[in-house]
Amino acid sequence: MRITFAASEGVPFSKTGGLADVVGALPKALAAAGHEVEVLLPRYRMTKPGAPLPNCRSVTLPLGNGFHFASLQDGGVADGVHTYLVDCPEFFDRDELYTEKGQDYPDNHLRFAAFSLACLEFMKRSANPPEIIHCHDWQAALVPIYLRNLYTGDPFFADTSVVFTIHNLGYQGLFPPHILPAVGLHAGLFTIDGLEFYGKVNLLKGGILFSDFVTTVSHKYAEEIQTPEFGCGLEGVLQTRASRLEGIVNGVDYDAWDPATDKLIAANYSPQDLKGKEVCKKALLEKMGVTRPVLTRPVIGIVSRFATQKGFDLIAGVAEQLMAMDLYIVALGTGEPQYEELFRSLTAKYPQKFRVKVAYDNTLAHQIEAGADMFLMPSRYEPCGLNQIYSMKYGTVPVARATGGLDDTIEPFNGRTGTGFKFADYQPEALLGVIHQAVNFYRQPKVWRVLMLNGMQKDFSWPSSAKQYIKVYEAALKTPAKMKTAAPASNS
Ligand code: ADP
Ligand code: GLC
Repeated sequence: MRITFAASEGVPFSKTGGLADVVGALPKALAAAGHEVEVLLPRYRMTKPGAPLPNCRSVTLPLGNGFHFASLQDGGVADGVHTYLVDCPEFFDRDELYTEKGQDYPDNHLRFAAFSLACLEFMKRSANPPEIIHCHDWQAALVPIYLRNLYTGDPFFADTSVVFTIHNLGYQGLFPPHILPAVGLHAGLFTIDGLEFYGKVNLLKGGILFSDFVTTVSHKYAEEIQTPEFGCGLEGVLQTRASRLEGIVNGVDYDAWDPATDKLIAANYSPQDLKGKEVCKKALLEKMGVTRPVLTRPVIGIVSRFATQKGFDLIAGVAEQLMAMDLYIVALGTGEPQYEELFRSLTAKYPQKFRVKVAYDNTLAHQIEAGADMFLMPSRYEPCGLNQIYSMKYGTVPVARATGGLDDTIEPFNGRTGTGFKFADYQPEALLGVIHQAVNFYRQPKVWRVLMLNGMQKDFSWPSSAKQYIKVYEAALKTPAKMKTAAPASNS
């Protein structure tokens, strides 16, 4: 199958979160299964420039008040996957990917319209059209919206189907209605069956409506998002697409996340020989500034965007009780000021028990995975979550809220079987209770070892998830052309 990915981030070119890990890894697994895979990403300031492509000097993008131009760079072939970078410096040569000082860039609609239009125009410069375009999140939602509204008569795409993956329903790409003409779309699309959403344009909604198949990143989240509690207002739209909506749990890339081979950690270790883990624990505590670390005391690790989604307000509610326990907490992240402030104030008050580094730091992320005993994810909602899966591989026991992918991937430990600890109620006391439960097991080293090994032996590698995507692609390809437009196309 010929598959083209369009996404706003992907490792090793750009990353703010788990989307980049997925876009970096799933194409490799598809290529290994014999498919022809290309990935299209924006070329940001953080992205190493690719080589110029002589036959793609530029495409013209009629957006906003005039013409914009993008060129395509060759990002190279790795593990059978060819990456191309959409270079449009006026939109992407900036410090951050989506925001500046915590605020969305005001021209995000134009930026990702330019990306989406450039993707389609570049595809048209290939000898053969893709059979599947696989788009991710609102930033690439204009690809199916354009395809099913502006490109409906284009013979080049006549046999192309679109799969759209929702990685996080909390980010929808909401804009005022007047952006429609600026991004080249007719105002007739601004209806309840189209892009309108409580008086705004909702690009994610368009992605859901105009794609042939919609997926999200865990089974539980696929169910949750069809309910008012988790649907962020789109539950009704998702219900209308229920027969074409599937949850596929993310895999992880063990080339990057395996304590036996990880070059970023103090010592390597494996289920056969766990000695290196204690070396990693000591190195982590020292690096974080703990003097004379007590290695029998459990370390709870956190690596996260500091966003409301991630549930850190629960920690605020029980911080004093947590700090009265015999444990360390080591946190890494950046994001909303109130959580950065919470963690900074706990570090100031309990410098020998709580340490935070407010930064984006991939090396430290690996070192926390390796050096911690437990990994905390009290998320309000979690479409999939990757760190709990990395944690299991590193013998670092996940302690998490039973939601979305956290619920799908962690099996509760019963003293013999299971891989972690979960709590259901979104209440500080429930979080505290599950941490007590985990610490009690930690005090029984033989039982704890069984728990660590249970997690380390789990296999969440990509091939099995990739197979499920291939089935979805096949289903999307079988979609009769007349069904391809879910919402009334309005191009006139
Ligand atoms: P989300 O995509 O919602 O942020 P995931 O658990 O799917 O959550 O993925 C987060 C990814 O981003 C993981 O690879 C994690 O290690 C990484 N990450 C998050 N915050 C940081 C940080 N401050 N420094 C380094 N890596 C981070
Ligand atoms: C999103 C979700 C996260 C998921 C990631 C990759 O950022 O918040 O749960 O793991 O996408 O799919």
